[in-house]
This record gives sequence, C-alpha cells and structure tokens, in this order.
Amino acid sequence: MIRLITYPLLTTFVLLFDINAVKNSRGFEVVGSREPVRAEVGDDVVLPCHVRPEFDVTRQTVEWKRERTVVHMFKSRDDNPDTQDLKFRGRTSLFRDKMTQGNISLKLTNVSEADAGNYTCYVPKMESQLNRDNVTLIVADSPSPDPPHLSPGLVSGIMILCLIGLVCLAAGFILCKRQSMCPAQNTRQSDRQYPDKGQDRVDGSPLKHRGQRRQRGQHRQHQQQ
Ligand SMILES: *[C@@H]1O[C@H](CO)[C@@H](O)[C@H](O)[C@H]1NC(C)=O
Ligand SMILES: *[C@@H]1O[C@H](CO)[C@@H](O)[C@H](O)[C@H]1NC(C)=O
Ligand SMILES: *[C@@H]1O[C@H](CO)[C@@H](O)[C@H](O)[C@H]1NC(C)=O
Ligand SMILES: *[C@@H]1O[C@H](CO)[C@@H](O)[C@H](O)[C@H]1NC(C)=O
Repeated sequence: MIRLITYPLLTTFVLLFDINAVKNSRGFEVVGSREPVRAEVGDDVVLPCHVRPEFDVTRQTVEWKRERTVVHMFKSRDDNPDTQDLKFRGRTSLFRDKMTQGNISLKLTNVSEADAGNYTCYVPKMESQLNRDNVTLIVADSPSPDPPHLSPGLVSGIMILCLIGLVCLAAGFILCKRQSMCPAQNTRQSDRQYPDKGQDRVDGSPLKHRGQRRQRGQHRQHQQQ
C-alpha cells in the first residue's frame, strides 16, 4: 500500500526535478577548448568539455559529433552506441564519475590521422543558447620512426661536421696560399718551362709537389748557371 503511493510520488518528484534541472539550465554554458588538442597516431586523447557552472549532467543527453558524424551519444543515463559512427565504436567514453560535476570530456583511444578535425560537444536539452562548443583535434604523424630533421643530436652533429669541414677548408686554403707564394715569383718563367705545372697544383698534394718543385728549382738554378 505504502509502496503504491510512494513510487508514483517519487517518480513525479524525479520528473519535476528533471524539468527543473533543464529549465534552470538557462544560465549555463557548454565550454570546450579554444586551444586545439594535439595527439600522435596511436595516442589516447581527452577532448575537454564541461558545463559551467557545475551542473549534474547524468540525466541529460550528451552528444559528441564531428561535423555530422556521431562520435559518442549518451542518453537515458547510458552510452548509446546504436547511433554512433562505426569508426568510433569501442574507442570513446565519457568520465561518468565526473559528469555529476558537469564534466563531459570525451576520451578517444588509439587516435588515427582520420580522427583529426572539429568536434562539437552538445547538451541539446539545455535551454541555454550556449549548449554546444567546439574542440579541434590535431593529429601528427606516427611518432615511432623519429623524423630525422627533428632530432637535436643529429642537427648538432651535422653542425659540428660542417664546422670541421669549414676549418679544414680554411686550413687547406691557407696552406695552399703559403705554398704557392714562393713559386709565384717565378710563375711566368716556370710555367713556360713546365707547362704541366698548373695541373699539379690543382690535384693538391702539397708534400709531393714541394719535393718536385725543389727539384725543379735546383734544375732551374743549374740552367741559370
Ligand atoms: C574533466 O575530466 C577530465 C578527465 O579526468 C579531465 O582531464 C578534465 O580536466 C576535466 N575537466 C574539468 C573542466 O574539470
Ligand atoms: C589502433 O588502430 C589501428 C588502425 O588505425 C589498428 O591497426 C590497431 O590494431 C589499433 N590498436 C589497438 C591497440 O587497438
Ligand atoms: C575547424 O574549424 C576551423 C575554424 O574554427 C577551420 O579553420 C578548420 O578548417 C576546421 N577544420 C576542419 C577539418 O573542418
Ligand atoms: C563550431 O564549429 C562549427 C563549424 O564546424 C561552427 O558552425 C560553429 O559556429 C562553431 N561553434 C562555436 C561555439 O564556435
């Protein structure tokens, strides 16, 4: 007897409470994130969204969409996978224990490049005009094969190699200049006498040339005498 009376009363009370909750939601707003969420392929990611001020949304319908695709549907106090797009099936969840505080963030697991885009969190029964907001998900390439141009170790390695190369070049240039200084005084004469000398200079093995030149110099001295 008591049960027969109290149950409808309780239901009515719950219904009234529900209606009140929705009606009172006028001053509430759904807040996503202005900052895009960044993830790498294979990551689990949280797309943040909450109702402000704090508001129990466990009796509300909560929708997550990307463009017109249903990403996640929460209805009648439970997830409703029937309307959900197949590519999100089994990969989405809400934080149930946080929903009492208005937190309707979406967890998306095993992110792929195809998941990138603009997501909308939406509480359709909230009377507020601000009953939805957007979150952008940016997905970067797979992290496993480290892109070589981003590795700081490699960059500094290349820089050091370049520096060593430059120093060697400079040293070589200075040596070359010093060596070609002496015979440069006799260039015209020696060039006439040894037409192959220019080629010798180009292949740049100074020690050998020095010997050759000394010999040639002696030869020259003999000739001059
Ligand atoms: C909502 O819950 C998620 C998961 O715990 C958390 O990352 C996020 O910061 C929460 N948002 C707010 C506004 O509390
Ligand atoms: C993650 O998704 C890829 C396809 O995008 C799939 O091949 C892989 O098995 C998934 N990994 C897990 C742990 O579900
Ligand atoms: C997401 O929205 C921004 C503007 O809010 C827009 O510039 C961008 O093109 C959109 N991205 C996609 C994938 O629709
Ligand atoms: C969310 O993005 C859609 C387009 O993707 C745009 O029409 C809408 O105005 C945006 N909403 C907010 C609250 O920025």
